[in-house]
Amino acid sequence: MSTDIHRGLAGVVVDTTAISTVISETNSLTYGGYPVQDLAASRTWEEVAYLLWHGDLPDAGQLADFRAAERAQRGLDRAGAELLARLPATCHPMDVLRTAVSYLGAQDPTEDDADPAANYAKSLSLFAKLPTVVALDVRRRRGLDPLQPDPALSYAENFFHLCFGAVPPADVVRAFEITMILYAEHSFNASTFTARVITSTLSDLYSAVTGAIGALKGPLHGGANEAVMDMLAEIDDPARAEQWLDRALAEKRRIMGFGHRVYKNGDSRVPIMQAALDQLVSAHGDARIRRTADLYGRLQRAMLARKGIHPNLDYPSALAYHLMGFDTPAFTPIFVMSRITGWTAHVTEQLHANVLIRPLGAYTGPRQRPVPAGA
Ligand code: SDX
Repeated sequence: MSTDIHRGLAGVVVDTTAISTVISETNSLTYGGYPVQDLAASRTWEEVAYLLWHGDLPDAGQLADFRAAERAQRGLDRAGAELLARLPATCHPMDVLRTAVSYLGAQDPTEDDADPAANYAKSLSLFAKLPTVVALDVRRRRGLDPLQPDPALSYAENFFHLCFGAVPPADVVRAFEITMILYAEHSFNASTFTARVITSTLSDLYSAVTGAIGALKGPLHGGANEAVMDMLAEIDDPARAEQWLDRALAEKRRIMGFGHRVYKNGDSRVPIMQAALDQLVSAHGDARIRRTADLYGRLQRAMLARKGIHPNLDYPSALAYHLMGFDTPAFTPIFVMSRITGWTAHVTEQLHANVLIRPLGAYTGPRQRPVPAGA
């Protein structure tokens, strides 16, 4: 009997979801039916986070309550801050984030409840605290003490304050919000599916998020945005772009920030992010940034010409984060700050699905055989 094997689950539909979808006719990603390009053009990050959890945009009162609840929960207790500060400075920032989520879970007396209503409170708490954790680690690696969250500032403004002790111009803050909106949710990607598998056993939300962080860390997934910046730094000279690419492709290397399992004619989120990046470069780009932007463009054109492969969201977002002043190792943790909304929305949806995820494998090992007599 021949068995249809779908390696990597490519093209396999494993369940329904009402959170997001890509409209193939227009190649546009929609959250709860709203195109992300429209959300990115007109809504704040807090409104989009609310939408992912509640299925619709908040009215003025709901938004005010949501903002107040988020701002009230940004703090990390002293024991948590000390635990993270004691982690080796050489460990990856995603390991710090994974540890922080485990710590917060261990602290939560309701940790083991796989209860949709309790999950919203946990999700909002993680949403509010993750910027504090990421910024603590950004400053730790720079030899700086952590700063305290400022409840007078918006989510995005507060993150810049926590990292750098200052809020940049409004266009930079808005570009950051746009990255948050674009990174938030993307249906059954590897890290979200990891969270769903863990949830399907009725394990807890913190375990699901910890697993998802582990999945996102990989360079084939979220870790690509960090790898893009490392790649641009390695090439350095725009005149070397084509030559570098030809050698990398000859060595069968995966070019970070390019290609996608679902989008084969271009990631729907890239045009929006590219426009935000272009604005940042023209308004704030010094000679060094403009040189890197030149290299960035040459590499993208060469990749399309040679392999017909388009960039994914990680390509423009990497250069945008670099321009905003974030250190490269912080790029994927920043992705987590956004994707915590999509992950936890899927955790709740999986709980309602109420089905254990347990696929099959086609066996190729030795046929049944007798155990030899003992030596
Ligand atoms: C994210 O799923 C999501 O939604 C993820 C994400 C999200 O929002 O959650 O969008 C975020 O993870 C984006 C992807 C970030 N990863 C990278 O940028 C890493 C580089 N990308 C590749 O590793 C690759 O494109 C994948 C893993 C993303 C997708 O690969 P697929 O769909 O499994 O395609 P494939 O590996 O079968 O490749 C098909 C062909 C192969 O050539 P052949 O062996 O058939 O000759 O295209 C080639 C691949 O070698 N190819 C690439 C390439 N991507 C595909 N060759 C060089 N560089 C690449 N980046």
